Amino acid sequence: MGTVQEDFDQHVMHTYGRFALVFVSGEGCYLQDEQGRRYLDFVAGIATCALGHAHPVLSAAIAEQARTLMHVSNLYYTPQQGALARWLAEHSAADQVFFCNSGAEANEAAIKLARKYGRTVLGIAEPQIITAQRSFHGRTLATVSATGQPKYHKHFYPLVQGFSYVPYNDFAALQAAVSDTTAAILLEPMQGEGGVMPGEAEYFQQVRTLCDENNILMILDEVQTGMGRTGKLWGYEHLGIEPDLFTIAKALGGGMPIGALCAREKFSIFEPGEHASTFGGNPLACAAGLAVCHTLEQEHLVANAEVRGVQLAAGLERLAHRFGNLVQQVRGRGLMQGLVCNEPIAGEIVKQAIAKGLLLVTAGPDVVRFVPPLIVTSFEIDEALAILEAVLAEMAVPVLGLR
Ligand SMILES: Cc1ncc(COP(=O)(O)O)c(C=O)c1O
Repeated sequence: MGTVQEDFDQHVMHTYGRFALVFVSGEGCYLQDEQGRRYLDFVAGIATCALGHAHPVLSAAIAEQARTLMHVSNLYYTPQQGALARWLAEHSAADQVFFCNSGAEANEAAIKLARKYGRTVLGIAEPQIITAQRSFHGRTLATVSATGQPKYHKHFYPLVQGFSYVPYNDFAALQAAVSDTTAAILLEPMQGEGGVMPGEAEYFQQVRTLCDENNILMILDEVQTGMGRTGKLWGYEHLGIEPDLFTIAKALGGGMPIGALCAREKFSIFEPGEHASTFGGNPLACAAGLAVCHTLEQEHLVANAEVRGVQLAAGLERLAHRFGNLVQQVRGRGLMQGLVCNEPIAGEIVKQAIAKGLLLVTAGPDVVRFVPPLIVTSFEIDEALAILEAVLAEMAVPVLGLR
């Protein structure tokens, strides 16, 4: 028997550059490694563990469902899938939901639906979808093709056809890219992986009008922004618009794999046999999803994300001011914040923070991303800021006189 790291080195494909940490348990906003060291987790499984770790309501719901019924396939009805779809419809612009297992799969479903819409409703032989540069939509072949970042395309040509990319928040560029073969526009309400870049309300409102005037589907990728992350339940609520379709995953299961494509009824045009997933929406995943949704409501976690997000942003602004030689800007919404550095030092900051017991994640080479669990407390935000301050202080001589 090898060590955990030897098992990985020898038998797990080397798709990830992992940190040398082996986590064995978690509670709330803290994780514990195999040596018993505690880490404050401001990664939350990459914006996924909205309720933190081992939340009693989520753990109990999963355990209870696992003891009762885990999976029957979509040949049959199950109460949990219906109840979760109802909750999502009652709390969003959507009326109907297709369940799958990840963000990429949710976007795959959206892409297929958009193509069907383009062909059957608009009569376009080869419908095109416009996405944004620096977007991130997943790693399957179609979603990586939809992703407007060449570094993810390398080695995987030929890509799936039918995508073009425009600069984000630039309406003139989008307008110029629209043609009579455009079936859909796919955007994140705030870009996450591409650098924590908030979408501008005016831009999204212009896009909404453009889509309405040309019968183009407006699809939002809420995989990272959805489920309260930005201080509102959905990222689009900051933008004064509602999408025709949107996709979710990550926090929907609080760590249990589940994704969903959510659609207004008018655009819910799949027919039996056109799209499917064996595991999609099984009772176990949907019980987890329901527990997350109910806990968001009962513990007022969307409001918490807003308030703690203001605290986090203010603390980061203070550090940006103090360490102006390292940090250029703070940007984000709610509990999805980015510290934009002057140089590509985000990886080094993350490494140093880990050494001091704080988990962070980059969003590109020059942005450090903060996506803690939505249950995060004022104390934990202060603790993270204090650790980050110590890291930055070691990395730079503070700009004298400022603070
Ligand atoms: C906006 C967005 N879309 C899609 C995805 C892909 O989700 P998954 O990794 O669950 O396939 C991600 C993952 O980071 C994301 O941030």
